[in-house]
Amino acid sequence: MSDSPVITIDGPSASGKGTVAARVARALGFHFLDSGALYRLTALAALKAGVALDDEAGVAKLAAALPARFDGGAVWLGDENVTDAIRAEAVGEGASKVAALPAVRAALLERQRAYRQAPGLVADGRDMGTVIFPDAVAKVYLTASAEARAERRYKQLIEKGNSASLPALVADMQARDARDATRAVAPLKPAPDALLLDTTHMDIESAVQAVLAHYRRKSGM
Ligand code: C5P
Repeated sequence: MSDSPVITIDGPSASGKGTVAARVARALGFHFLDSGALYRLTALAALKAGVALDDEAGVAKLAAALPARFDGGAVWLGDENVTDAIRAEAVGEGASKVAALPAVRAALLERQRAYRQAPGLVADGRDMGTVIFPDAVAKVYLTASAEARAERRYKQLIEKGNSASLPALVADMQARDARDATRAVAPLKPAPDALLLDTTHMDIESAVQAVLAHYRRKSGM
């Protein structure tokens, strides 16, 4: 395995970790892994191929051979640009279902570790610090109250011209948290050595600075 430094940022959905992780990666000139996108791509590939989301062997086979490519901000599945398609609510739901299947997680393990390349990697997900990169130099668990996260998602949806219900979003958020936290494999939980960062009352820039400071402290820079 490469010994390039890894910073892991785990946490529940809509905690802001994707944005924070991408900015930290840019600030350091590191590579960036959005592991959630791999689960979303797997779900999308299954939906397209007509493979049932609970067909563990079938979905794992798709995950192992996933023709995924990340190019700047764009996400490709084969020759199809699926940047927007993987963000659809149904695909997020599907991702959370296929992510509970051990064979699917196993199929994506080495693919995720392969992103660890010089000069370093910022990895965003649920189990980056606990399972995929247990030896990461700096681990962060980013969270915010379900209400704060639902409100952020609500604003995003309204800005894009979609209709949305705040109470329904809070309920969705709590249901997905519960599923991610109680599944048997790689449940969502902070690594014992992770810095806990609650962003309920924190803006993105402060969170980015807190992660960079944590990394500098841990790496002795
Ligand atoms: O982060 P994002 O919302 O894109 O992830 C989609 C789903 O994939 C999550 O709800 C979670 O169930 C799953 N996931 C996971 N492990 C990861 C990243 C995402 O189980 N490392």
